[in-house]
Amino acid sequence: MYQVYLRSFADADCDGAGDIAGLRSRLPYLADLGVDAIWINPWYPSPLADGGYDIVDYRDVHPEAGTMADADEFISDAHALGIRVLLDIVPNHTSDQHPWFQQALASGVGSTARDRYLFRPGRGPGGDQPPNNWMSQFGGPAWTRVTEPDGQPGQWYLHLFAPQQPDLAWSHPEVRADFEDTLRFWFDRGVDGFRIDVANSLTKDVDLPDLDALELSHRTGPDREHPHWDRPDVHDIYRGWRKVADSYDPPRVFVAEAWVDTPERMAQYVRPDELHNAFNFDFLTSRWHAKSLRQVIDGNLAAQQAVGAPATWVLSNHDVARHPSRYARPQDEERGHNFDHLIGVPADHERGLQRARAAALLMLALPGSVYLYQGEELGLLEVEDLADEVLTDPTWERSGRTLRGRDGCRVPIPWSGDAPPFGFSPDGSAPPWLPQPAAWADRTVHAQAADPDSTLNLYRRALRQRADHPALGEGTMQWCDTPADVLMFARSPRFVCAVNFADTPLQLPPDAQITLSSGPLTGDGTLPQDTAVWLQTDR
Ligand code: NOJ
Repeated sequence: MYQVYLRSFADADCDGAGDIAGLRSRLPYLADLGVDAIWINPWYPSPLADGGYDIVDYRDVHPEAGTMADADEFISDAHALGIRVLLDIVPNHTSDQHPWFQQALASGVGSTARDRYLFRPGRGPGGDQPPNNWMSQFGGPAWTRVTEPDGQPGQWYLHLFAPQQPDLAWSHPEVRADFEDTLRFWFDRGVDGFRIDVANSLTKDVDLPDLDALELSHRTGPDREHPHWDRPDVHDIYRGWRKVADSYDPPRVFVAEAWVDTPERMAQYVRPDELHNAFNFDFLTSRWHAKSLRQVIDGNLAAQQAVGAPATWVLSNHDVARHPSRYARPQDEERGHNFDHLIGVPADHERGLQRARAAALLMLALPGSVYLYQGEELGLLEVEDLADEVLTDPTWERSGRTLRGRDGCRVPIPWSGDAPPFGFSPDGSAPPWLPQPAAWADRTVHAQAADPDSTLNLYRRALRQRADHPALGEGTMQWCDTPADVLMFARSPRFVCAVNFADTPLQLPPDAQITLSSGPLTGDGTLPQDTAVWLQTDR
Protein backbone atom coordinates (compact mmCIF):
# COMPACT_ATOMS: atom_id res chain seq x y z
CA MET A 1 0.00 0.00 0.00
CA TYR A 2 1.46 3.34 -1.09
CA GLN A 3 0.42 6.51 0.74
CA VAL A 4 -0.15 9.56 -1.45
CA TYR A 5 -0.03 12.95 0.25
CA LEU A 6 -1.93 14.53 -2.61
CA ARG A 7 -0.88 18.18 -2.15
CA SER A 8 2.74 17.10 -2.48
CA PHE A 9 2.63 14.35 -5.08
CA ALA A 10 2.23 15.93 -8.52
CA ASP A 11 0.74 19.24 -9.68
CA ALA A 12 -0.99 19.29 -13.07
CA ASP A 13 -2.77 22.67 -12.94
CA CYS A 14 0.30 24.84 -12.20
CA ASP A 15 -0.83 26.23 -8.81
CA GLY A 16 2.09 24.71 -6.88
CA ALA A 17 -0.13 22.16 -5.07
CA GLY A 18 -0.61 18.54 -6.08
CA ASP A 19 -3.94 17.43 -7.53
CA ILE A 20 -5.87 14.44 -8.79
CA ALA A 21 -4.92 15.04 -12.43
CA GLY A 22 -1.24 15.10 -11.40
CA LEU A 23 -1.64 11.86 -9.49
CA ARG A 24 -3.48 10.32 -12.43
CA SER A 25 -0.63 11.23 -14.77
CA ARG A 26 1.80 9.46 -12.44
CA LEU A 27 -0.16 6.22 -12.15
CA PRO A 28 2.26 4.45 -14.55
CA TYR A 29 5.07 5.30 -12.12
CA LEU A 30 3.16 3.65 -9.28
CA ALA A 31 2.31 0.61 -11.39
CA ASP A 32 5.96 0.28 -12.38
CA LEU A 33 7.05 0.63 -8.74
CA GLY A 34 4.84 -2.38 -8.07
CA VAL A 35 2.27 -1.18 -5.55
CA ASP A 36 -1.06 -2.98 -5.18
CA ALA A 37 -3.04 -0.09 -3.76
CA ILE A 38 -2.82 3.53 -2.77
CA TRP A 39 -4.24 5.46 0.16
CA ILE A 40 -4.82 9.15 -0.51
CA ASN A 41 -4.83 11.70 2.31
CA PRO A 42 -8.09 13.73 2.52
CA TRP A 43 -8.97 15.31 -0.82
CA TYR A 44 -12.26 16.89 0.26
CA PRO A 45 -13.25 20.59 0.43
CA SER A 46 -11.46 22.05 3.44
CA PRO A 47 -10.03 25.35 4.70
CA LEU A 48 -6.80 23.35 5.25
CA ALA A 49 -6.39 24.37 8.88
CA ASP A 50 -4.82 20.92 9.37
CA GLY A 51 -3.73 19.80 5.92
CA GLY A 52 -7.26 18.75 4.93
CA TYR A 53 -8.12 16.85 8.13
CA ASP A 54 -10.72 19.57 8.67
CA ILE A 55 -13.48 18.64 6.23
CA VAL A 56 -16.39 20.79 5.10
CA ASP A 57 -18.03 18.31 2.72
CA TYR A 58 -17.24 14.60 2.86
CA ARG A 59 -18.84 13.90 -0.52
CA ASP A 60 -16.92 16.22 -2.82
CA VAL A 61 -13.31 17.04 -3.70
CA HIS A 62 -11.39 20.22 -2.88
CA PRO A 63 -11.27 22.58 -5.88
CA GLU A 64 -7.48 22.66 -5.46
CA ALA A 65 -7.48 18.86 -5.96
CA GLY A 66 -9.81 18.89 -8.94
CA THR A 67 -13.38 17.86 -9.67
CA MET A 68 -15.56 14.83 -9.11
CA ALA A 69 -15.04 14.01 -12.79
CA ASP A 70 -11.26 13.95 -12.15
CA ALA A 71 -11.88 11.63 -9.21
CA ASP A 72 -13.97 9.23 -11.30
CA GLU A 73 -11.44 9.16 -14.12
CA PHE A 74 -8.61 8.62 -11.70
CA ILE A 75 -10.35 5.70 -9.95
CA SER A 76 -11.10 4.07 -13.25
CA ASP A 77 -7.50 4.48 -14.55
CA ALA A 78 -6.08 3.11 -11.30
CA HIS A 79 -8.33 0.08 -11.53
CA ALA A 80 -7.32 -0.48 -15.14
CA LEU A 81 -3.71 -0.75 -13.90
CA GLY A 82 -4.72 -3.16 -11.14
CA ILE A 83 -4.23 -0.55 -8.40
CA ARG A 84 -6.88 -0.25 -5.71
CA VAL A 85 -7.83 3.11 -4.23
CA LEU A 86 -8.40 3.92 -0.58
CA LEU A 87 -9.52 7.33 0.64
CA ASP A 88 -9.07 8.84 4.09
CA ILE A 89 -12.15 9.32 6.26
CA VAL A 90 -12.08 11.67 9.25
CA PRO A 91 -14.91 10.73 11.62
CA ASN A 92 -13.66 12.20 14.91
CA HIS A 93 -14.17 15.81 13.87
CA THR A 94 -15.38 18.04 11.05
CA SER A 95 -14.15 21.45 9.99
CA ASP A 96 -15.57 24.36 11.98
CA GLN A 97 -16.84 25.51 8.56
CA HIS A 98 -18.92 22.33 8.12
CA PRO A 99 -22.63 23.20 7.76
CA TRP A 100 -23.44 21.18 10.90
CA PHE A 101 -21.05 23.23 13.03
CA GLN A 102 -22.13 26.53 11.52
CA GLN A 103 -25.73 25.55 12.27
CA ALA A 104 -24.76 24.62 15.83
CA LEU A 105 -23.14 28.04 16.36
CA ALA A 106 -26.10 29.90 14.90
CA SER A 107 -28.76 27.89 16.75
CA GLY A 108 -27.54 28.59 20.27
CA VAL A 109 -27.57 26.83 23.65
CA GLY A 110 -29.90 23.85 23.97
CA SER A 111 -30.55 23.53 20.24
CA THR A 112 -30.59 20.08 18.72
CA ALA A 113 -27.95 21.25 16.22
CA ARG A 114 -25.48 21.45 19.15
CA ASP A 115 -26.09 17.80 20.02
CA ARG A 116 -24.03 16.64 17.05
CA TYR A 117 -20.93 18.10 18.73
CA LEU A 118 -19.70 18.24 22.34
CA PHE A 119 -20.83 21.63 23.66
CA ARG A 120 -20.70 22.19 27.45
CA PRO A 121 -20.94 25.11 29.88
CA GLY A 122 -17.63 26.34 31.27
CA ARG A 123 -16.50 26.00 34.87
CA GLY A 124 -15.79 28.70 37.41
CA PRO A 125 -17.37 32.11 37.87
CA GLY A 126 -19.08 33.18 34.66
CA GLY A 127 -18.20 29.83 33.07
CA ASP A 128 -14.92 31.23 31.82
CA GLN A 129 -12.86 28.09 32.53
CA PRO A 130 -12.87 25.09 30.14
CA PRO A 131 -15.26 22.26 31.15
CA ASN A 132 -12.34 19.91 31.94
CA ASN A 133 -8.56 19.65 31.68
CA TRP A 134 -8.31 17.77 28.36
CA MET A 135 -5.53 18.94 26.06
CA SER A 136 -5.48 19.47 22.30
CA GLN A 137 -3.01 17.23 20.47
CA PHE A 138 -1.59 20.36 18.88
CA GLY A 139 -1.07 22.13 22.22
CA GLY A 140 -3.28 24.20 24.53
CA PRO A 141 -6.69 23.27 25.92
CA ALA A 142 -9.02 20.97 23.98
CA TRP A 143 -11.89 23.45 24.45
CA THR A 144 -12.79 26.74 22.80
CA ARG A 145 -15.48 29.09 24.00
CA VAL A 146 -18.01 30.38 21.49
CA THR A 147 -19.77 33.68 21.21
CA GLU A 148 -23.51 33.03 21.33
CA PRO A 149 -25.92 34.48 18.74
CA ASP A 150 -26.78 37.26 21.27
CA GLY A 151 -23.13 38.36 21.29
CA GLN A 152 -22.39 37.03 24.81
CA PRO A 153 -19.58 34.58 25.66
CA GLY A 154 -21.26 31.20 25.92
CA GLN A 155 -20.62 27.46 25.80
CA TRP A 156 -17.38 25.67 25.06
CA TYR A 157 -16.89 22.94 22.44
CA LEU A 158 -14.45 20.06 22.48
CA HIS A 159 -11.66 19.70 19.91
CA LEU A 160 -9.02 17.06 20.58
CA PHE A 161 -7.09 18.62 17.67
CA ALA A 162 -7.18 22.24 16.40
CA PRO A 163 -10.06 24.60 17.32
CA GLN A 164 -11.02 24.41 13.63
CA GLN A 165 -11.69 20.68 14.15
CA PRO A 166 -14.69 20.32 16.52
CA ASP A 167 -15.24 16.76 17.79
CA LEU A 168 -18.45 15.05 16.76
CA ALA A 169 -20.79 13.38 19.27
CA TRP A 170 -20.78 9.75 18.18
CA SER A 171 -23.65 8.98 20.54
CA HIS A 172 -25.86 10.90 18.09
CA PRO A 173 -27.69 8.56 15.67
CA GLU A 174 -27.58 11.11 12.85
CA VAL A 175 -23.78 11.26 13.02
CA ARG A 176 -23.59 7.49 12.70
CA ALA A 177 -26.05 7.31 9.84
CA ASP A 178 -24.43 10.16 7.94
CA PHE A 179 -20.97 8.60 8.00
CA GLU A 180 -22.33 5.28 6.76
CA ASP A 181 -23.94 7.21 3.90
CA THR A 182 -20.56 8.80 3.13
CA LEU A 183 -18.95 5.35 2.99
CA ARG A 184 -21.63 4.20 0.56
CA PHE A 185 -21.27 7.37 -1.52
CA TRP A 186 -17.61 6.60 -2.28
CA PHE A 187 -18.00 2.82 -2.43
CA ASP A 188 -20.68 3.34 -5.07
CA ARG A 189 -18.13 5.34 -7.08
CA GLY A 190 -15.70 2.40 -7.02
CA VAL A 191 -13.51 3.37 -4.06
CA ASP A 192 -12.04 0.20 -2.55
CA GLY A 193 -11.74 1.27 1.07
CA PHE A 194 -10.80 3.86 3.66
CA ARG A 195 -8.02 4.67 6.04
CA ILE A 196 -9.76 5.81 9.23
CA ASP A 197 -8.31 8.90 10.91
CA VAL A 198 -7.83 8.66 14.70
CA ALA A 199 -9.99 5.56 14.69
CA ASN A 200 -9.50 5.21 18.45
CA SER A 201 -10.97 8.52 19.59
CA LEU A 202 -14.56 8.69 18.38
CA THR A 203 -16.37 7.82 21.61
CA LYS A 204 -15.89 9.68 24.88
CA ASP A 205 -16.88 9.14 28.51
CA VAL A 206 -20.21 10.99 28.62
CA ASP A 207 -19.29 12.59 31.96
CA LEU A 208 -16.19 14.15 30.37
CA PRO A 209 -14.16 13.71 33.61
CA ASP A 210 -10.83 15.46 34.19
CA LEU A 211 -7.80 13.39 33.23
CA ASP A 212 -5.48 12.41 36.05
CA ALA A 213 -1.76 13.08 35.75
CA LEU A 214 -1.04 9.68 34.25
CA GLU A 215 -3.85 9.86 31.71
CA LEU A 216 -2.66 13.24 30.50
CA SER A 217 0.43 11.51 29.14
CA HIS A 218 -0.89 7.98 28.59
CA ARG A 219 -3.53 6.75 26.26
CA THR A 220 -5.33 4.21 28.43
CA GLY A 221 -5.92 4.74 32.13
CA PRO A 222 -4.11 2.67 34.75
CA ASP A 223 -7.10 0.77 36.11
CA ARG A 224 -10.00 2.14 34.11
CA GLU A 225 -10.69 3.09 30.53
CA HIS A 226 -9.28 6.39 29.29
CA PRO A 227 -12.01 9.05 28.98
CA HIS A 228 -11.29 9.77 25.30
CA TRP A 229 -8.82 7.28 23.80
CA ASP A 230 -9.49 3.72 22.71
CA ARG A 231 -12.77 3.23 24.56
CA PRO A 232 -14.47 -0.17 24.20
CA ASP A 233 -17.67 1.23 22.67
CA VAL A 234 -15.79 2.56 19.62
CA HIS A 235 -15.70 -0.99 18.26
CA ASP A 236 -19.44 -1.04 17.84
CA ILE A 237 -19.13 1.71 15.22
CA TYR A 238 -16.71 -0.39 13.19
CA ARG A 239 -18.92 -3.46 13.36
CA GLY A 240 -21.52 -1.30 11.61
CA TRP A 241 -18.99 -0.09 9.04
CA ARG A 242 -17.87 -3.63 8.34
CA LYS A 243 -21.43 -4.56 7.45
CA VAL A 244 -21.51 -1.70 4.96
CA ALA A 245 -18.16 -2.79 3.43
CA ASP A 246 -19.26 -6.42 3.24
CA SER A 247 -22.44 -5.51 1.41
CA TYR A 248 -20.30 -4.67 -1.66
CA ASP A 249 -18.84 -7.04 -4.22
CA PRO A 250 -15.91 -7.22 -3.90
CA PRO A 251 -16.07 -6.27 -0.20
CA ARG A 252 -14.47 -2.95 0.64
CA VAL A 253 -11.70 -2.61 3.26
CA PHE A 254 -10.64 -0.40 6.18
CA VAL A 255 -7.31 0.52 7.74
CA ALA A 256 -7.32 1.93 11.26
CA GLU A 257 -5.07 4.73 12.37
CA ALA A 258 -5.13 3.98 16.08
CA TRP A 259 -2.20 4.99 18.27
CA VAL A 260 -2.95 2.69 21.20
CA ASP A 261 -0.92 1.33 24.10
CA THR A 262 -0.30 -2.29 23.22
CA PRO A 263 -0.37 -4.67 20.23
CA GLU A 264 -3.26 -6.47 21.94
CA ARG A 265 -5.40 -3.31 22.04
CA MET A 266 -4.53 -2.62 18.42
CA ALA A 267 -5.59 -6.13 17.46
CA GLN A 268 -9.07 -5.45 18.82
CA TYR A 269 -9.65 -3.13 15.84
CA VAL A 270 -9.06 -5.97 13.40
CA ARG A 271 -11.21 -8.68 14.94
CA PRO A 272 -13.09 -10.66 12.28
CA ASP A 273 -16.22 -8.48 12.34
CA GLU A 274 -14.37 -5.13 12.45
CA LEU A 275 -11.62 -3.54 10.34
CA HIS A 276 -9.07 -5.26 8.08
CA ASN A 277 -5.72 -3.63 8.89
CA ALA A 278 -4.38 -1.34 11.60
CA PHE A 279 -1.10 0.55 11.28
CA ASN A 280 1.63 -0.99 13.38
CA PHE A 281 3.14 2.16 14.83
CA ASP A 282 5.33 0.15 17.21
CA PHE A 283 7.42 -0.78 14.16
CA LEU A 284 7.62 2.85 13.05
CA THR A 285 8.58 4.14 16.50
CA SER A 286 11.15 1.45 17.26
CA ARG A 287 14.74 2.58 17.22
CA TRP A 288 17.13 0.87 14.80
CA HIS A 289 18.10 -1.87 17.18
CA ALA A 290 17.88 -5.66 16.74
CA LYS A 291 16.37 -6.47 20.13
CA SER A 292 13.75 -3.70 20.03
CA LEU A 293 12.68 -4.57 16.50
CA ARG A 294 12.49 -8.27 17.28
CA GLN A 295 10.27 -7.58 20.28
CA VAL A 296 7.98 -5.44 18.13
CA ILE A 297 7.82 -8.05 15.38
CA ASP A 298 7.07 -10.91 17.77
CA GLY A 299 4.56 -8.91 19.80
CA ASN A 300 2.64 -7.76 16.77
CA LEU A 301 2.63 -11.09 14.98
CA ALA A 302 1.30 -12.81 18.11
CA ALA A 303 -1.39 -10.20 18.75
CA GLN A 304 -2.58 -10.21 15.14
CA GLN A 305 -2.53 -14.00 14.95
CA ALA A 306 -4.73 -14.18 18.04
CA VAL A 307 -7.52 -12.41 16.13
CA GLY A 308 -6.75 -13.95 12.74
CA ALA A 309 -5.73 -10.67 11.07
CA PRO A 310 -2.63 -9.94 8.97
CA ALA A 311 0.19 -7.95 10.57
CA THR A 312 1.15 -4.59 9.06
CA TRP A 313 4.48 -2.77 8.82
CA VAL A 314 5.14 0.92 8.31
CA LEU A 315 8.20 3.16 8.70
CA SER A 316 6.97 6.63 7.74
CA ASN A 317 3.89 8.71 7.08
CA HIS A 318 2.84 12.36 6.81
CA ASP A 319 2.84 12.82 10.60
CA VAL A 320 6.34 11.71 11.57
CA ALA A 321 9.92 12.63 10.65
CA ARG A 322 11.08 10.67 7.62
CA HIS A 323 12.82 7.52 8.84
CA PRO A 324 16.25 8.02 7.18
CA SER A 325 16.48 11.23 9.24
CA ARG A 326 15.43 9.44 12.41
CA TYR A 327 17.93 6.66 11.76
CA ALA A 328 20.63 9.27 11.09
CA ARG A 329 20.60 10.03 14.81
CA PRO A 330 22.34 7.87 17.46
CA GLN A 331 20.11 4.88 18.23
CA ASP A 332 21.27 4.22 21.79
CA GLU A 333 18.05 5.62 23.27
CA GLU A 334 14.36 6.01 22.38
CA ARG A 335 14.04 9.54 21.10
CA GLY A 336 10.55 10.02 19.69
CA HIS A 337 9.43 10.01 16.09
CA ASN A 338 8.62 13.66 15.43
CA PHE A 339 10.92 16.15 13.79
CA ASP A 340 10.89 18.19 17.02
CA HIS A 341 12.52 15.24 18.79
CA LEU A 342 15.45 15.37 16.35
CA ILE A 343 16.28 19.06 16.48
CA GLY A 344 19.81 19.62 17.79
CA VAL A 345 20.72 15.89 17.78
CA PRO A 346 23.80 15.31 15.59
CA ALA A 347 23.02 13.48 12.35
CA ASP A 348 24.91 11.18 10.00
CA HIS A 349 22.62 11.22 6.97
CA GLU A 350 24.57 8.71 4.94
CA ARG A 351 24.22 6.21 7.76
CA GLY A 352 20.55 7.10 8.13
CA LEU A 353 19.89 6.23 4.51
CA GLN A 354 21.94 3.03 4.75
CA ARG A 355 19.80 1.92 7.71
CA ALA A 356 16.60 3.01 5.96
CA ARG A 357 17.43 0.84 2.95
CA ALA A 358 18.12 -2.12 5.25
CA ALA A 359 14.85 -1.42 7.10
CA ALA A 360 12.98 -1.53 3.79
CA LEU A 361 14.24 -5.04 3.05
CA LEU A 362 13.43 -6.13 6.59
CA MET A 363 9.91 -4.74 6.38
CA LEU A 364 9.16 -6.09 2.92
CA ALA A 365 10.27 -9.59 3.97
CA LEU A 366 7.95 -9.81 7.00
CA PRO A 367 4.57 -11.59 6.83
CA GLY A 368 1.67 -9.18 6.28
CA SER A 369 0.87 -5.88 4.59
CA VAL A 370 3.39 -3.07 4.06
CA TYR A 371 2.58 0.65 3.97
CA LEU A 372 5.00 2.93 2.11
CA TYR A 373 4.93 6.72 2.31
CA GLN A 374 5.53 8.66 -0.89
CA GLY A 375 9.17 9.60 -1.29
CA GLU A 376 10.57 6.87 0.94
CA GLU A 377 11.32 4.92 -2.24
CA LEU A 378 13.54 7.88 -3.18
CA GLY A 379 15.30 7.86 0.20
CA LEU A 380 14.07 11.39 0.87
CA LEU A 381 15.17 12.97 4.12
CA GLU A 382 13.11 15.17 6.39
CA VAL A 383 13.47 18.79 5.24
CA GLU A 384 14.88 20.25 8.43
CA ASP A 385 15.48 23.86 7.44
CA LEU A 386 12.05 25.14 6.40
CA ALA A 387 11.74 28.85 7.22
CA ASP A 388 9.27 29.86 9.95
CA GLU A 389 7.13 31.73 7.39
CA VAL A 390 6.33 28.63 5.33
CA LEU A 391 5.24 26.37 8.19
CA THR A 392 1.56 25.37 7.98
CA ASP A 393 1.26 22.70 10.66
CA PRO A 394 -1.17 23.93 13.37
CA THR A 395 1.33 22.62 15.93
CA TRP A 396 3.58 25.60 15.18
CA GLU A 397 1.10 28.30 16.25
CA ARG A 398 -0.69 26.23 18.92
CA SER A 399 2.62 25.55 20.68
CA GLY A 400 3.42 29.26 20.74
CA ARG A 401 5.97 28.68 17.97
CA THR A 402 8.00 26.26 20.06
CA LEU A 403 7.27 23.05 18.10
CA ARG A 404 7.82 23.10 14.33
CA GLY A 405 5.59 20.14 13.49
CA ARG A 406 5.19 18.01 10.42
CA ASP A 407 5.77 20.13 7.30
CA GLY A 408 9.29 18.74 6.80
CA CYS A 409 7.98 15.32 5.75
CA ARG A 410 5.37 16.82 3.39
CA VAL A 411 7.62 18.65 0.92
CA PRO A 412 6.62 18.05 -2.73
CA ILE A 413 8.17 15.08 -4.54
CA PRO A 414 11.13 15.68 -6.89
CA TRP A 415 10.42 14.00 -10.23
CA SER A 416 13.04 15.32 -12.66
CA GLY A 417 15.39 18.16 -13.56
CA ASP A 418 18.18 19.96 -11.74
CA ALA A 419 16.30 22.62 -9.81
CA PRO A 420 12.97 23.15 -8.02
CA PRO A 421 10.19 22.39 -8.75
CA PHE A 422 11.92 19.23 -10.02
CA GLY A 423 9.05 18.35 -12.34
CA PHE A 424 6.52 18.51 -9.50
CA SER A 425 4.67 21.26 -11.42
CA PRO A 426 4.82 22.12 -15.13
CA ASP A 427 7.35 24.79 -16.13
CA GLY A 428 6.18 28.32 -15.34
CA SER A 429 3.90 27.23 -12.46
CA ALA A 430 3.53 28.88 -9.08
CA PRO A 431 6.29 27.69 -6.73
CA PRO A 432 5.57 24.49 -4.77
CA TRP A 433 3.50 25.15 -1.65
CA LEU A 434 6.50 24.08 0.45
CA PRO A 435 9.99 24.79 -0.91
CA GLN A 436 12.09 21.83 -2.04
CA PRO A 437 15.80 21.67 -1.12
CA ALA A 438 18.21 22.28 -4.03
CA ALA A 439 20.08 19.17 -2.85
CA TRP A 440 17.22 17.00 -4.11
CA ALA A 441 18.65 17.23 -7.65
CA ASP A 442 20.21 13.78 -7.25
CA ARG A 443 17.11 12.31 -5.55
CA THR A 444 14.66 12.83 -8.40
CA VAL A 445 12.80 9.87 -9.88
CA HIS A 446 14.50 10.59 -13.20
CA ALA A 447 18.02 10.60 -11.72
CA GLN A 448 17.40 7.46 -9.67
CA ALA A 449 15.78 5.51 -12.48
CA ALA A 450 19.11 5.64 -14.33
CA ASP A 451 21.17 4.45 -11.35
CA PRO A 452 21.03 0.68 -10.70
CA ASP A 453 22.09 1.18 -7.08
CA SER A 454 19.55 3.89 -6.30
CA THR A 455 17.02 3.59 -3.51
CA LEU A 456 14.25 3.70 -6.12
CA ASN A 457 15.66 0.68 -7.91
CA LEU A 458 16.11 -1.13 -4.60
CA TYR A 459 12.40 -0.65 -3.83
CA ARG A 460 11.41 -1.67 -7.36
CA ARG A 461 13.43 -4.88 -7.18
CA ALA A 462 12.22 -5.67 -3.67
CA LEU A 463 8.57 -5.13 -4.59
CA ARG A 464 8.96 -7.27 -7.69
CA GLN A 465 10.54 -10.12 -5.74
CA ARG A 466 7.91 -9.76 -3.02
CA ALA A 467 5.16 -10.13 -5.62
CA ASP A 468 6.80 -13.10 -7.35
CA HIS A 469 8.35 -15.07 -4.48
CA PRO A 470 6.02 -17.71 -3.02
CA ALA A 471 7.53 -17.24 0.46
CA LEU A 472 6.71 -13.53 0.70
CA GLY A 473 3.53 -11.65 1.52
CA GLU A 474 1.19 -13.67 3.71
CA GLY A 475 2.44 -16.63 5.74
CA THR A 476 4.71 -17.38 8.66
CA MET A 477 8.36 -16.83 9.59
CA GLN A 478 10.92 -18.51 11.76
CA TRP A 479 13.84 -16.83 13.52
CA CYS A 480 17.31 -18.28 12.93
CA ASP A 481 19.94 -18.64 15.67
CA THR A 482 22.23 -15.63 15.41
CA PRO A 483 24.40 -13.33 17.49
CA ALA A 484 22.42 -10.71 19.47
CA ASP A 485 22.92 -7.81 17.07
CA VAL A 486 21.52 -9.64 14.06
CA LEU A 487 18.01 -10.32 12.82
CA MET A 488 17.73 -13.35 10.58
CA PHE A 489 14.57 -15.23 9.72
CA ALA A 490 13.49 -17.89 7.28
CA ARG A 491 10.28 -18.12 5.30
CA SER A 492 9.11 -21.11 3.41
CA PRO A 493 10.02 -22.05 0.71
CA ARG A 494 13.76 -21.36 0.74
CA PHE A 495 13.88 -17.70 1.67
CA VAL A 496 16.00 -15.97 4.33
CA CYS A 497 16.28 -12.31 5.29
CA ALA A 498 19.30 -11.20 7.31
CA VAL A 499 20.02 -7.77 8.82
CA ASN A 500 23.28 -6.97 10.56
CA PHE A 501 23.16 -4.24 13.23
CA ALA A 502 26.62 -5.06 14.67
CA ASP A 503 29.89 -3.39 13.76
CA THR A 504 31.43 -6.84 13.12
CA PRO A 505 30.63 -8.36 9.71
CA LEU A 506 28.25 -11.33 9.83
CA GLN A 507 29.19 -14.59 8.13
CA LEU A 508 26.28 -15.50 5.82
CA PRO A 509 25.19 -19.14 5.37
CA PRO A 510 27.60 -20.60 2.80
CA ASP A 511 24.93 -22.44 0.79
CA ALA A 512 22.78 -19.32 0.24
CA GLN A 513 22.51 -17.24 -2.87
CA ILE A 514 22.06 -13.49 -2.41
CA THR A 515 19.09 -12.22 -4.41
CA LEU A 516 18.96 -8.66 -3.07
CA SER A 517 21.14 -6.48 -0.91
CA SER A 518 20.36 -3.09 0.65
CA GLY A 519 23.95 -1.88 0.22
CA PRO A 520 27.39 -2.81 -1.12
CA LEU A 521 28.82 -6.17 -0.02
CA THR A 522 32.48 -7.02 0.33
CA GLY A 523 32.32 -10.23 -1.75
CA ASP A 524 33.76 -12.43 1.02
CA GLY A 525 30.44 -13.96 2.10
CA THR A 526 29.90 -11.53 4.97
CA LEU A 527 27.23 -8.92 5.67
CA PRO A 528 28.43 -5.46 6.76
CA GLN A 529 26.84 -3.35 9.50
CA ASP A 530 23.44 -1.72 8.82
CA THR A 531 22.91 -3.84 5.74
CA ALA A 532 20.20 -6.37 4.87
CA VAL A 533 20.12 -9.18 2.33
CA TRP A 534 17.53 -11.51 0.92
CA LEU A 535 18.80 -15.02 0.36
CA GLN A 536 17.65 -18.03 -1.61
CA THR A 537 18.60 -21.18 0.31
CA ASP A 538 18.73 -24.87 -0.52
CA ARG A 539 16.82 -25.78 2.60
C1 NOJ B 1 -4.12 12.00 12.18
C2 NOJ B 1 -3.68 12.53 10.86
O1 NOJ B 1 -2.80 11.62 10.26
C3 NOJ B 1 -3.05 13.88 11.13
O2 NOJ B 1 -2.39 14.38 10.01
C4 NOJ B 1 -4.13 14.81 11.63
O3 NOJ B 1 -3.54 16.02 12.02
C5 NOJ B 1 -4.87 14.23 12.84
N1 NOJ B 1 -5.18 12.84 12.69
C6 NOJ B 1 -6.16 14.96 13.08
O4 NOJ B 1 -7.09 14.67 12.07
